[in-house]
Amino acid sequence: MPSPSSRHDAFAVCTPGLEQLLEGELRRLGIRGRVGTGGVAFRATTRELYAANLWSRVATRVVVRAARFEARSFAELERAARRVDWASWLGPGTRPVFRVSSRSSRLYHTGAIGQRLGAVAEHVTGHAPSGDATSEQLFVVRVRRDAFTISVDSSGEALHRRGWRLATAKAPLRETLAAAMLLATGWQPDRPLVDPFCGSGTIPIEAALLGTGRPPGADRAFAFQRWPSFAPGTWASVLASASRAEREAAKRCGTLVIVGRDRDAGAIEAATANAERAGVAHHLDLQRASISELQPPASTPGWILTNPPYGKRIASGGDLRDLYARLGQVARTLFAGWSIGLLVTDRRLAAQAAVPFEERIRSSNGALAVSLLTGELRTPG
Ligand SMILES: C[S@@+](CC[C@H](N)C(=O)[O-])C[C@H]1O[C@@H](n2cnc3c(N)ncnc32)[C@H](O)[C@@H]1O
Repeated sequence: MPSPSSRHDAFAVCTPGLEQLLEGELRRLGIRGRVGTGGVAFRATTRELYAANLWSRVATRVVVRAARFEARSFAELERAARRVDWASWLGPGTRPVFRVSSRSSRLYHTGAIGQRLGAVAEHVTGHAPSGDATSEQLFVVRVRRDAFTISVDSSGEALHRRGWRLATAKAPLRETLAAAMLLATGWQPDRPLVDPFCGSGTIPIEAALLGTGRPPGADRAFAFQRWPSFAPGTWASVLASASRAEREAAKRCGTLVIVGRDRDAGAIEAATANAERAGVAHHLDLQRASISELQPPASTPGWILTNPPYGKRIASGGDLRDLYARLGQVARTLFAGWSIGLLVTDRRLAAQAAVPFEERIRSSNGALAVSLLTGELRTPG
């Protein structure tokens, strides 16, 4: 069983397109990672593994390599699986769940691979059959040319589920992507931030969490807390450092100016409820208003950061091109000197805003391909 001083071969998974931002986050935690497709690989102490889960705003989950072996038959698979340290990850009452992918390999029936591994894990740990389990532990199994890699998920529910977004409006943005927008633009908490299409408040709330130095995972649990190898002292120390860091950030951050607007009353209600659950409602100014009523909240220039409606037409039946043109006009005339960042699915639509944009991120929000475009709103003359 690994001890608190063990080293783990870890991989922080993210939505493709966010790898560099994730690497930067890990670096700020003192962790040196190697960027790969869809994530960042790193050697972690137990403390670093816990800290990455607590602090990463961009990662979807963090997995740890549990075993690596070759198997060309089920007999070989079972023999190798008996040597895996299942008892470190599976306590009584936890059922193993296997997410298997197999390519170019003799064993290709992913369901059967998962079943055999599950049977061996139950036999080795001596725990009751899976039917009596009250929780699940995910194992990610990758088979390539007969080589098996088994990774254990240390996060549990995906990390974008921070615990505060219970109310959603239309087309909500993943929390991890909202955080990525903030990190990619380099927004600083001493600058105002305006989201004119805030929906359920994801961008303003993530900004407030970032600005106040609050760990994104402060209000949730993680799979590693149920592992028999869990080190409670190490976790308590990670939480204590987080509280200290948050107190320090609170001293530095002063008054945040973070504004969310949406023309839909239900969206503002959802955003307010979410902000209250996240403990940041007092930092936010959330009000119902349409884009035509938008005003700068401060004389210091900051960021308009938003994801405007997607699709072809808006609910009122108007053309989305008009909405983007209106956004551009309001931004150029009233927000001169500010910067603007739009998360969009359609660059031609964004061109209606008539702002010279550059693409900062290409990623996805659920099944939709998205780009973060940023630009400067020049002062006239
Ligand atoms: C893609 S959603 C934003 C989702 C949001 N980022 C979230 O995480 O929930 C776009 C939002 O724009 C709002 N909207 C549409 N037309 C608007 C207008 N003319 N003025 C202000 N808000 C508008 C919609 O009500 C919707 O909530």
